[in-house]
Amino acid sequence: MIRILNLNKTYKSTQALKDVNLQVDKKELFAFLGPNGAGKTTTIRILTGLTQKSSGTAQLNGFDVETFGVESRRQCGLVPQAINLDRELSVIENLNIHARLFRMPREQRESRIEELLEYVEMSDRKSTLVKNLSGGMKRRLMMARALLHSPAILFLDEPTVGLDAGMRRKIWALIRKIQQNGTTIFLTTHYIEEAEFLANRVAFIDNGSIVVVDTPENLMKQQGTWALDCLKEDDIKTLYFNDRKEANDYIAAHKDSFTLRRVNLEDSFLALTGKKVQ
Ligand SMILES: Nc1ncnc2c1ncn2[C@@H]1O[C@H](COP(=O)(O)OP(=O)(O)OP(=O)(O)O)[C@@H](O)[C@H]1O
Ligand SMILES: [Mg+2]
Repeated sequence: MIRILNLNKTYKSTQALKDVNLQVDKKELFAFLGPNGAGKTTTIRILTGLTQKSSGTAQLNGFDVETFGVESRRQCGLVPQAINLDRELSVIENLNIHARLFRMPREQRESRIEELLEYVEMSDRKSTLVKNLSGGMKRRLMMARALLHSPAILFLDEPTVGLDAGMRRKIWALIRKIQQNGTTIFLTTHYIEEAEFLANRVAFIDNGSIVVVDTPENLMKQQGTWALDCLKEDDIKTLYFNDRKEANDYIAAHKDSFTLRRVNLEDSFLALTGKKVQ
């Protein structure tokens, strides 16, 4: 379980987090959705012990991230936003170095690495140098690395950034599988579909503050069911309808150019913050 109470973080002149309060339950998949610079990575860095908070409290499974740093770090694994694998080493060498850092006994190390490579479908890439892997494989290797010590909580900072749609879906399936095996997942994203597809609950974060926390279904429902984008001269205006027939009647009565679609989380984000996520 993750508990954050009145968390603040200030870098010199920037207040990156403003009074953040949040609780993520055991085995939940929680998504932090927000635009660039919203404070997503800062939150993860504080929770994983990479940055100190300015004030407030953060705990992982009851361990305060500062006063019980060693214990709280043992609770979690992190896949950072930027790829930080050793490019000149092979897949298995990257995993071995990390397992040694966790002082895993040799036999346990070898079997755990085999098991995880199979889990992320990379058993046939053991000896490949990291610099020769595709972007999606590097992400999957970082996920395997983060899972080596079987953490209760997995932090994924923008897990599919820069990947094509097919690979993104493959990573989504892997994330679901990790959750189904009992791991709590906290992920950040600025991909609407990613939060919609994966998350049990979503927090919108904007400019260091949490705007709202709810299930994707509840957040979308507040806008209606159907969104009608109307192109008028150079401007796109969106109208919302609960009933598809009402939307079609509106289209029939007007001469603009229309796109009718299902409401998504971007509509909710826009309604609550006045801006788009992407
Ligand atoms: N080390 C640092 N020193 C100074 N300012 C920082 C530092 N790290 C982050 N910031 C600032 O804190 C704010 C939040 O940054 P953060 O990286 O947490 O955002 P983010 O939501 O992860 O954004 P992105 O989607 O671009 O990854 C930004 O204004 C950023 O410029
Ligand atoms: Mg970030």
